[in-house]
Amino acid sequence: WGKTGHRVVGEIADAYLSKKAEKEVSKLLNGHSLAFVANYGDDIKSDRRYDSFSPWHYVNFPFGEKYETYEKSEKGDIIQAINKCISVLKNDKSPKDEKVFYLKMLAHFMGDLHQPLHIGLADDKGGNDFQVRWFSDGTNLHSVWDYKMIDSYEMSYTELAKNTDVLSKEQVEAIKKGTVLDWMYESRALCENIYGHTEIGEKLGYNYMYDYMDTLRSQLQKGGIRLAGLLNEIFS
Ligand code: ADE
Ligand code: ZN
Ligand code: ZN
Repeated sequence: WGKTGHRVVGEIADAYLSKKAEKEVSKLLNGHSLAFVANYGDDIKSDRRYDSFSPWHYVNFPFGEKYETYEKSEKGDIIQAINKCISVLKNDKSPKDEKVFYLKMLAHFMGDLHQPLHIGLADDKGGNDFQVRWFSDGTNLHSVWDYKMIDSYEMSYTELAKNTDVLSKEQVEAIKKGTVLDWMYESRALCENIYGHTEIGEKLGYNYMYDYMDTLRSQLQKGGIRLAGLLNEIFS
């Protein structure tokens, strides 16, 4: 996601933290919120010392293959990244600065896990090499999903985060269920659907936006609720 997408995921997660988790998160983040730090994972990309973390934002494998049996990148991927974050945060022996770093990274990666094209295909770099038009601008499919649709909607991140208010307790519990791998496969299914509905060079616009905006918003919502679920468990 772009800035707004990640901010929405953080903002929703902030609202679903338990009292205990909220206290621990606030302590680690010096009083800042998850929304405040959700873009850290992208912001550090400008610093070459963090280059080794760039493959941690996504995973690519062919349609029809399974992540578990596909040869994993030794440079890491989003699944390995999230598991690393969880293990550092769960370990009482982790130094505080390390916990702070991996908490900020977890808040970011849980967003990316829910961007369908971050569970993508290596051939076109998760849609970065899939050229399309967005209204009258030339762009690529990855950017349409990272931020073009969200920006065209022109809703603030707080406004976009609000639709969780209508969820029942049961719906929230249902969203929280499952594992990181289950959530990855949900994104993968959406990614396959998107490729089935989009052609190279296609002019995408308001039709595409209205077809997919509910899916997009639901992915941000799930990312936020599940991030809170993980943190509530880690800090229980
Ligand atoms: N670079 C290569 N593949 C990518 C993907 N699926 N998402 C984001 N960046 C990528
Ligand atoms: Zn992206
Ligand atoms: Zn990212």
